[in-house]
Amino acid sequence: MPQPSLLGLSGSIRRGSTNTAILRTIAGHLGSKASMTLFPLNDVPLYNGDLEGEHLPPPVQALKDAIAGADGIILCSPEYNHGMSGVLKNALDWASRPGFNSPLKNKPALIMSSSPGAIGGARAHAQVRETLASALARVVARPQVTIAGIFQKVTDGHLTDEASLKFCLEAVDDLLSEIRLLSAQPA
Ligand code: FNR
Repeated sequence: MPQPSLLGLSGSIRRGSTNTAILRTIAGHLGSKASMTLFPLNDVPLYNGDLEGEHLPPPVQALKDAIAGADGIILCSPEYNHGMSGVLKNALDWASRPGFNSPLKNKPALIMSSSPGAIGGARAHAQVRETLASALARVVARPQVTIAGIFQKVTDGHLTDEASLKFCLEAVDDLLSEIRLLSAQPA
C-alpha cells in the first residue's frame, strides 16, 4: 500500500499542551513510514443535534473529512477529574455521527494519554477506548500508552524523554501493522 497517512487529535487545545507536544514529536519521527498531520480541535463547537442538518458547522465537517481521509488516527488525551478531556469527548461525539456508520467506523485508532500524575491518565485512556468502541473504531490492542510525569518529559514543545518516545513509536508501529492488515483484507 502507499505511505499511510495518520491524523493526530490532541485532547488539549492550550498552546503549551504536552499532549499536543507528544503528537507533534511523533509526527516528526515517522520518516518514510507514514505521514502525519494534527487536527486542532479549537474550533469544534459543542455538540448540538440541532446543527446536524445537511450542512454541518465547517470545523465539524473538516474534522469528519480529516478522519475519513486518514488511514489511522492517534488520540492523545490529558486526564481531567479522572476522565478524558471534554474537548476530545465532544469531538468524538461529533465524529461518531451518524451512529454506527460514521468516519470512525472501522478506523484503526491508537490511544495515548499523558498527565503530570503517577498513572499518566490511565482513567482517561480507558474512557477514550470505550467511546471509540461505541463508534466501532478498530482500537489497536496493545499495552496502554500512558505517560506519567509528563511535565518533566516535554521540553520546548517536544517529548524529550527517550524511553517514552521509544514506547510511543513502538505503538505507532503497531498501528501501522493494523492498517496494513486491514488494507490486505478483501473488501
Ligand atoms: C487536571 N489534571 C489531572 N491529572 C490527572 O492525572 N488526573 C486528574 O484527574 C486530573 N484532573 C484535572 C482536572 C482539571 C480541571 C485540570 C485542569 C487538570 C492535570 C492534567 O492532566 C494536566 O493539566 C494535563 O497534563 C494537561 O494536559 P496538556 O494541556 O499539557 O496537554
